[in-house]
Amino acid sequence: MRIAVFDTHSYDRHALEEANRVHGFTLSFLESRLTDETVSLANGYDAVCVFVNDRLDEGVLAALLSSGVRIIALRCAGFNNVDVAAAERLGISVARVPAYSPHAVAEHTVALLLCLNRKIHRAFARVREGNFSLDGLVGFDLFGKTVGIIGTGKIGSIVARIMLGFGCKVLAFDLYPDDQLTQEAGVRYVPFEDLLAQSHILTLHLPLSDSTVHLIDARVIAAMQPGAILLNTSRGGLVDTEALIEGLKRGHIGGAGLDVFEREAGVFFEDLSNGIIQDDQLARLLTFPNVLITGHQAFLTDTALRNIAETTLENLSAIGAGKECPNLVTRTHPLPPRT
Ligand code: NAI
Repeated sequence: MRIAVFDTHSYDRHALEEANRVHGFTLSFLESRLTDETVSLANGYDAVCVFVNDRLDEGVLAALLSSGVRIIALRCAGFNNVDVAAAERLGISVARVPAYSPHAVAEHTVALLLCLNRKIHRAFARVREGNFSLDGLVGFDLFGKTVGIIGTGKIGSIVARIMLGFGCKVLAFDLYPDDQLTQEAGVRYVPFEDLLAQSHILTLHLPLSDSTVHLIDARVIAAMQPGAILLNTSRGGLVDTEALIEGLKRGHIGGAGLDVFEREAGVFFEDLSNGIIQDDQLARLLTFPNVLITGHQAFLTDTALRNIAETTLENLSAIGAGKECPNLVTRTHPLPPRT
């Protein structure tokens, strides 16, 4: 099978080449993101392998089909960047990697919280300049604080257990509460408004969908505890950035730890250090001393990369051989591979 791997970086390439030893696929590594402008690069391939910021709308999917592509293998769990209904209509199979290391993302979420609260990012820069002053570096004890978790699936439930280890009280909101988390760990599910009102730290671990776009908007921010910290390692679109900036300017939000941003496509994963940031909201966020942004790196551990590569190629192998693939996102019968 010939596979065009879009939006590739050295770490993806290394992990995929290792995992491909048992499959022997022909992998072509492309640095470009998959968009309507770059879709012609997939000409003649059987499959494309894509990541979070590749855009697979109906036009791109139709162009992929006429290029000969029958399978799309996502190297990620979220699939909000794929028009799944269009893929189903066209008969293109789409598979994802539902879990590769929820620990990686959960641990990064907590790393953002610790760094932001104890101002490690500021202390690091200061000390390197020979400035050992402690002014402005006051944090708070996590012990005894209330953490509100929205979405207690694979990642959110691990964050819950880690925060319980710090001696925090953990409240949660999910459409489908996890009884085990309540009975074994002591997490308490509460109505959404109560979670907002009681949490000193609010952390998002739910997918982006039509119903969750801008879940955190001006109304929700106003209902949060004054001074609360917001963490988002899920998807940028969950937060209305304009409302977040207003909340930070008023001091109502005490800090934000973000691994994702609404318009991260074309910015995150790129070295733009010699250019000018064109997104005014991103530029504004970067000016706040109490905002910590990482460029969608929560997944980036060696364990996760290995798991992603192995599952991605297993998905391609199963679909290509007409076997059952447990990680299919599309529910229609796929087209047979070209002969
Ligand atoms: P999961 O599917 O295991 O859990 C998601 C949870 O959200 C489920 O329990 C579900 O019931 C709940 N949920 C869905 N809609 C909801 C709503 N409207 N209100 C309340 N709860 C709702 O997903 P997992 O693996 O925990 O991942 C969570 C998110 O993390 C993913 O959707 C993805 O966007 C993001 N992610 C980010 C990564 C990064 O590198 N920053 C890496 C991997 C995932």
